[in-house]
Amino acid sequence: MNKVRTSVLKATAIAPSNIAFSKYWGRKDNILRLPANGSISMTLSDLLTTTTVEFSPAYERSSPSDKKDQVTINGGGIEEGEEMRVIKHLDRVRKLSDINFKAKVASKNNFPAGTGLASSASGFAALTLAAISAAGLRLSDKELSILARQGSGSACRSIPGGFVEWLNGDTSETSYATQIFPSDYWDIADVVAIFTEEKKEVSSSTGHEAAQSSPFFKTRIAGMKQKNEEFKRFIKQRNFEKFGQLLEREALEFHAITLTQNPYLIYWTAGTLATMKKTAVLRNKGLPVYFTVDTGQNIHLFVEGKNIKRLVSELKKLEGIKNIIINKPGEGTRLSENHLF
Ligand code: PMV
Repeated sequence: MNKVRTSVLKATAIAPSNIAFSKYWGRKDNILRLPANGSISMTLSDLLTTTTVEFSPAYERSSPSDKKDQVTINGGGIEEGEEMRVIKHLDRVRKLSDINFKAKVASKNNFPAGTGLASSASGFAALTLAAISAAGLRLSDKELSILARQGSGSACRSIPGGFVEWLNGDTSETSYATQIFPSDYWDIADVVAIFTEEKKEVSSSTGHEAAQSSPFFKTRIAGMKQKNEEFKRFIKQRNFEKFGQLLEREALEFHAITLTQNPYLIYWTAGTLATMKKTAVLRNKGLPVYFTVDTGQNIHLFVEGKNIKRLVSELKKLEGIKNIIINKPGEGTRLSENHLF
């Protein structure tokens, strides 16, 4: 870690969301957010969070009755629990630097938050790089990934670009994400079908804590290492059919855990289910497409680059579809000169 002291304690970062091919669900350590298994993901080109952080003594004086960091998302307020997570993360950065000032944080997503599109991943990745840079520190990608993970587990996978592995470390220092293939290695796309922009009812943080109560959890964990090896092999071979089949099997296995944990969580809606079934119909019509779903109603459909147009025209025919976002493998978290305030 290098200290680069500047007079302006302000910085802006842009961070992508990521989609897990193999899911992080359940933890070995809830405080450090150490996952029960490693996971493989793709960094997304078009689901982005931009965050500006400024540390200043002015923010102590401007709200004497409420001496805390000021946080806004998309120009509006933020839920109390979420605000506490952001403040805790700023505290981690203050601990690493010698800055004790309060901060102003403004964040903007180019997609609806809390709907299973991993806004906490891009959100905490952007907050990590912006806050670290505003504090005048320079961290390696590994250090940034470790720090981002403590804000939101999957955020550690949004630091690198392209195809990414979150290593299954047993300690904070060994649990971080690293690039396995660059973004231009394979021309595939994650086409996100959005059915609702409403927030999901249960956060994934709460869901992780109950994962182990599923009678199938141990069986799942026992197979994750091999599954991750297979994902890496199919990506390396650019074997879309094998990759897609594994992607769907893994998504359904993950939801088998959420459905059988106590209390159970049902994230799908009628639209999600209809689209899952539609993928099989489209494959029979000669369009290779495979799905995955996280903790939300919206569904991610994978196709090879050459088939994006065909898939989009099929999706437009679906009842209740609100929006379609096309993602290629994207670059990782980076700094920007365009401050939000
Ligand atoms: O990082 P969290 O707490 O938002 O958990 C992410 C959980 C999943 O999206 C379902 C899986 C994953 O690996 O991203």
